[in-house]
Amino acid sequence: MALTTSLQNYLSSSLISASGNAATTAIKPPRSSMITSVRMRHWAVHAAAPDTTTASVEGFEEGVLVRPNWSGETPLSRLVAALISFKPLYSLLKLGARQVFISTAEKKNIPWREMTKEILESEVYKELESIQNNSLVYPDYYLNPFHAYDEGNLTWLAAAEAEPATMSMAMRAIPDASSVDEANEIMRGNWIRAIEQHHITYSGTSTVRDVLDIGCSVGVSTGYLADKFPMAKVTGLDLSPYFLAVAQYKAKRGVPRKYPIRWIHANGEDTGLPAKSFDIVSISYVFHECPTRAIVNMVNEAFRLLRPGGTLALTDNSPKSKILQELSPVLFTLMKSTEPFLDEYYLTDVEETMRKAGFVNIKSLLTDPRHMTTTATVPQ
Ligand SMILES: C[S@@+](CC[C@H](N)C(=O)[O-])C[C@H]1O[C@@H](n2cnc3c(N)ncnc32)[C@H](O)[C@@H]1O
Repeated sequence: MALTTSLQNYLSSSLISASGNAATTAIKPPRSSMITSVRMRHWAVHAAAPDTTTASVEGFEEGVLVRPNWSGETPLSRLVAALISFKPLYSLLKLGARQVFISTAEKKNIPWREMTKEILESEVYKELESIQNNSLVYPDYYLNPFHAYDEGNLTWLAAAEAEPATMSMAMRAIPDASSVDEANEIMRGNWIRAIEQHHITYSGTSTVRDVLDIGCSVGVSTGYLADKFPMAKVTGLDLSPYFLAVAQYKAKRGVPRKYPIRWIHANGEDTGLPAKSFDIVSISYVFHECPTRAIVNMVNEAFRLLRPGGTLALTDNSPKSKILQELSPVLFTLMKSTEPFLDEYYLTDVEETMRKAGFVNIKSLLTDPRHMTTTATVPQ
């Protein structure tokens, strides 16, 4: 227990300092000027030098490597994998990781335990029956322990904690933000602007009638898409019926929409939805959780689902992110212990996968210090 506590303390302080918010930074600018500088980093896009860098929204920096040296098949990456595969250490890391997720979020004023309790004590359970597709066969990778949950995403606890976890991700991405709203304004704002800009530039029309959010989780990304395209019919699709139940429960209690979001329990690799039936397909923060074969299948499925001129938008960890390349050993070990497919993700060339599927106009943009958004078009 003492070992767990000291691990937790160490991890907790590392997480805080890695996010740039250590209490010791005496030379921090006053809050007001800091916020201004964060806001200024919104949408002045820096063009990429050919074949060397990804374009980035102003102020978001790339590291010197192609991908972090703790990922892929480097000796360091193999060493971490070997350590994690040692069961007693894995159990310790898992326990520590969970406690750190919660305490780090709460230090950032995200009421993790309160939000979780509210969902678990609500009537969310009633939504499951109308959402769950009992004949769905889950891909094998989805049945592994994940994010420190033994049953992965297939539990009510994972579903109840998904929204505070998403808020925490935004605060990690934009560590200078003074609130979750401000962090989302930048992280989600830059992402959705990248999608809109790409679609306007390459689709030949600004009309958006149908939008699909693959791996929608509890509906946070789906809500942003529905807000951005209020005249479109928006569908959220996910493999976890528990996550979808939370999404539907929250949407029913949210602001009414002209077109209520449709929630579908299906595999994004093979959705069963009609071909050429969407103008935009978005897949955000899904691929780092998947093996390469699932990434390839989802990109091919998106190509099938999009109309000619349609836009695919992928958002996830950027292998070129300076912050991710410079993560402390404690942090990347912790991360890898709860995300079993990170190495495969970093070794997958997402742009090349899109090209092979038939997409054109493939553009990658660092939309916050940690994440890139890659957009592409189905030829007309
Ligand atoms: C980190 S969450 C996505 C968060 C959400 N898109 C957002 O931006 O807030 C990843 C999601 O991908 C889903 N997922 C993983 N593999 C999938 C697949 N093959 N088909 C559909 N959903 C999948 C998981 O169930 C999980 O909800």
